[in-house]
Amino acid sequence: MKLFVDTANLEELEQCLRRGFPSGVTTNPSILSREQRRDFREHINDMIALLQKYRCDIPLSVEVFTADPAEMLPQAEAFCSHFGHYPNLNIKVPIGWDELAVIAELRRRGIRVNCTCCMSYNQAIMAARAGANYVSLFWGRIRDIGYDAGSVVRQVHQTLRQWESESEIIVGSIRHIADINEAVQAGADILTVPPKFFPQMCGHPKTDEAVQQFVTEFQKWQGDAPRLAA
Ligand code: E4P
Repeated sequence: MKLFVDTANLEELEQCLRRGFPSGVTTNPSILSREQRRDFREHINDMIALLQKYRCDIPLSVEVFTADPAEMLPQAEAFCSHFGHYPNLNIKVPIGWDELAVIAELRRRGIRVNCTCCMSYNQAIMAARAGANYVSLFWGRIRDIGYDAGSVVRQVHQTLRQWESESEIIVGSIRHIADINEAVQAGADILTVPPKFFPQMCGHPKTDEAVQQFVTEFQKWQGDAPRLAA
């Protein structure tokens, strides 16, 4: 299981990259809209510069910002010309009938695709069949409408395994830490997680208690003995 960072915030991204754990980064137009307004190309290029600073050649997903399938291919082409110097660029294209033709065409050209906004088994397997490298299932949004996100992910996972498909399942739309654990159990290959959850994932009150106990007992034992030089 791999962890991707679901952010367009440069500071959050750097905090994660410094810690070495991310296997990828995902953005979407809505995530980008939470940042200070500026030229979109400059912002993505700043994200790429950070990835390069930390020598992270990991997948970066950039999503088309149109709902019109006819505009998606030209937008994807523009992304490739602005960000194509980054070797691990993935174009995010939402699932849909006309969108499938965009996905297939990008794949024919050797461009990596993350098919996003999948809410059902059928959507995910169509995306995989069209050649998407990643199929993104939205855990929180699937649950919002009363469906069992776990069984959707489980079924997609089983089918892709039967097909020996190269598409990987990304689970996004994470709202709670428990979503991460459940999605992994259901067969997600990758979890894309908002950065605010990562510090929580490293912490535990019993860890704090243990560390405090070790330090206190050691200090008592040392008493006035000379300390190690800093
Ligand atoms: C995944 O790639 C998406 O960016 C994201 O997880 C969407 O989740 P949301 O439901 O928080 O918008």
